[in-house]
Amino acid sequence: MTVHIHQSESDLASAVSDIVEQTIRSSPDAKLGLATGSTIEPIYRELVSRYRMAGQKPDGLSFANVSAYLLDEYIGLDPSNPETYRNVIRSGFIQHIDLPDSSVHSPEGDSIDPTEQAAAYDAAVTQAHIDLQLLGIGRNGHIAFNEPGSSLASRTRLVNLANTTRADNARFFASPDDVPRQAITQGIATILSAQQIILIAIGQHKADAVAQAIEGPVTSSLPASALQTHPRVTYVLDTAAASKLTLSGVDREVC
Ligand code: F6R
Repeated sequence: MTVHIHQSESDLASAVSDIVEQTIRSSPDAKLGLATGSTIEPIYRELVSRYRMAGQKPDGLSFANVSAYLLDEYIGLDPSNPETYRNVIRSGFIQHIDLPDSSVHSPEGDSIDPTEQAAAYDAAVTQAHIDLQLLGIGRNGHIAFNEPGSSLASRTRLVNLANTTRADNARFFASPDDVPRQAITQGIATILSAQQIILIAIGQHKADAVAQAIEGPVTSSLPASALQTHPRVTYVLDTAAASKLTLSGVDREVC
């Protein structure tokens, strides 16, 4: 594992975008796994800016042949709701680059049979072979919506959201009661099937979860700890999120 610690959000966004850009330049038809949430927003802004800056050049950054797979989707929101993860990714990223909307894949949160939908999405992700998966981390150590207690062997499925997750995500909704109670999420084993994974964390409120994920035991009570079993994971953190790490015996780089 490699841990990168950045002093500023812009340096962090630039470092993650470098890895995304290298992935696309070496495989123009790369399969990208995309997260949603506040952490990932500066990275999408940086990638949009690189796309725009390079737009006029013959060797410009293009997403035209890339496919994207979302980690998760709320259950019960109308497809037109701006807070579906599909719409959040559209408005914050996809609509500003040349990645066709038809190449963006996500679980259908309004499906009449979420269990069947989850199985179909798991098969699609597995078949795609994700080259690079971007992940955030919850305050409770969740990855995607794999809340504490999720099996490390879990696949894409219907889950109940933890109370802490609903409280954290209430900022995106008019009232806390409007936050959906369920979601379809890629499972931990599904996420671990990606070739390369970057876990990004920003802020002091993530420091405990980050320390346990990187330096604690591998346990289903802290789902992000499962990443320790993956051969190619990079943790990209700001100094606040990294503040509870001891980093003894870890390949680290402070930028
Ligand atoms: C979102 C997702 C979640 C978030 C996590 C962190 O697709 O899967 O696991 O990555 O909840 O959210 P933020 O970045 O808003 O703190």
